Amino acid sequence: MRFSTLALKATTLLLFSVHANAFWRMPCVVSGLARLDPLKYYGTISEHMHAIHGSSGFSDSAGTAELLAGDCTSCQVAQDKSAYWTPALYFQNSATSEFSLVNQVGGMLAYYLLRTNAGSTNVTAFPHGFEMIAGDTNQREFKYPVPDVDKSNWNVEPYNTQAFKRQAALGFNCLDYSNPGATEGSLYRHSLPDKAYLDAHCKSGVRFELMFPSCWNGKPTPEDKKSHMAYPSLVGEGDCPPEFPIRLNTLFFETIWDTSAFADTAGQFVIANGDPTGNGYHGDFIMGWDEAFLQEATNQCTNLSGKIEDCPLFTIQPIDTSTSCNITESNIPAPLAKDVVSGGATTLPGNPAIVSTGYASDAPAASSSSSPSSPISSVAVSSAPATSTSTSTSSAQPSSSAASVSHQAPGALFAAKSSADPATEVSSPSTLTTPSSSPSPPAVTPAPAPQSPGSSQSYFSTEYATKGQDVVEVLWVEDVVTVTAPSARKRHLHKHRRGGVL
Ligand SMILES: *[C@@H]1O[C@H](CO)[C@@H](O)[C@H](O)[C@H]1NC(C)=O
Ligand SMILES: *[C@@H]1O[C@H](CO)[C@@H](O)[C@H](O)[C@H]1NC(C)=O
Ligand SMILES: *[C@@H]1O[C@H](CO)[C@@H](O)[C@H](O)[C@H]1NC(C)=O
Repeated sequence: MRFSTLALKATTLLLFSVHANAFWRMPCVVSGLARLDPLKYYGTISEHMHAIHGSSGFSDSAGTAELLAGDCTSCQVAQDKSAYWTPALYFQNSATSEFSLVNQVGGMLAYYLLRTNAGSTNVTAFPHGFEMIAGDTNQREFKYPVPDVDKSNWNVEPYNTQAFKRQAALGFNCLDYSNPGATEGSLYRHSLPDKAYLDAHCKSGVRFELMFPSCWNGKPTPEDKKSHMAYPSLVGEGDCPPEFPIRLNTLFFETIWDTSAFADTAGQFVIANGDPTGNGYHGDFIMGWDEAFLQEATNQCTNLSGKIEDCPLFTIQPIDTSTSCNITESNIPAPLAKDVVSGGATTLPGNPAIVSTGYASDAPAASSSSSPSSPISSVAVSSAPATSTSTSTSSAQPSSSAASVSHQAPGALFAAKSSADPATEVSSPSTLTTPSSSPSPPAVTPAPAPQSPGSSQSYFSTEYATKGQDVVEVLWVEDVVTVTAPSARKRHLHKHRRGGVL
């Protein structure tokens, strides 16, 4: 197979039906930070801290019915009472051993990608009661080549295994908005870079990415919340394994963490589950839409803009409604009040052991408190690719980086809730999504220049897809347009396709 990145004329590029690339991007703000996880710790307290988004009906024992019964949602579409959560990110200062919560810029973008199996236009809405977990909280290793082998090889061992795909579904996107040429494709790197790398290159923070499996076996959600689902051949796209034939909405989470605020401080970043490697990053979802409505939206909300505003079915709620929507207070068990959510202690909330190699065992409660169990120097990982010289002069000023980072953040919605984020941005984030992983990571090969001129335009991300013998590379490009308020920026996402025929 041959992969060409030569630019082709637009006429040769339309290899997909519109539907297959359609998606919408759901902006949600944090509705609570708590050690709650009804999928893994039902009826009790979770071992680690989560950043939770969505319905106020969330609790230690919430399911679809409880979420639907919630008074409000922190997501921007009133009909979406789902719950979306991931572990939070902490920074451990090596001088004091104390942990600090890293600022989550904006909230979460939960993408609903409407990917289909070959020869089908069907995308089935998540059924009522549907739940799933993506990622493995115990994983601490990534044993495959970095960067990924070309996707054209993902049909052979070990890349055709679910084990590989589960790990390739995690992404840690190094952000530096001052250097658009260094923009990375989504899911390019599957481990959290170490602090030295983050300090040197990721001036605008790190975007955590998580692609959920989208192939369903048609059975009710099982105890493990995982075995009813599988990844399609290319993780976020491609075809489903025969035993998991039903293509559901393809869910993709993005959250941005302002790691740059700690650029001048020695220490390490540790995900709330005690993972400094990133390989144990994971996320959870509980369906909280009316199922028939979600199916309608899946069928009809196919505008390629990805904007929720372009779906006539959605009720976009006032920003204040989202920002004031938190998990109902009485749903939070009393003992959690003692958690020092924002940090300041020498252990992580819940005190999970910090393990940076191998496969961590479950049920961690760290034995010795803090320092001994958390050797700062032993940060594993960093599979950071040798990268571009992303120099970047400036700053590492939390505020300034937050401002630029906010491109991800759906706008005013986020700005309003996150006091540390002065930026007010209007409109849609860009991001994109998709899969990628891929062949020509901009970090190694400088990102191709956007094909249309305009200095305010920057290459955003890359998506690769195969159909039959064709590979299409879609470049997502965003325009930055200054709008009214001084720090407000509006971004438009559009894409350029380049393609090659194999
Ligand atoms: C809502 O939750 C956020 C995040 O946990 C918190 O910062 C905020 O204070 C809460 N607001 C209210 C009104 O409880
Ligand atoms: C598409 O969905 C319909 C209705 O659920 C089903 O009858 C049909 O077999 C599906 N087609 C494919 C190709 O999966
Ligand atoms: C998609 O939305 C844009 C506005 O963002 C609108 O101009 C366009 O007509 C829509 N396309 C379709 C096919 O509905």
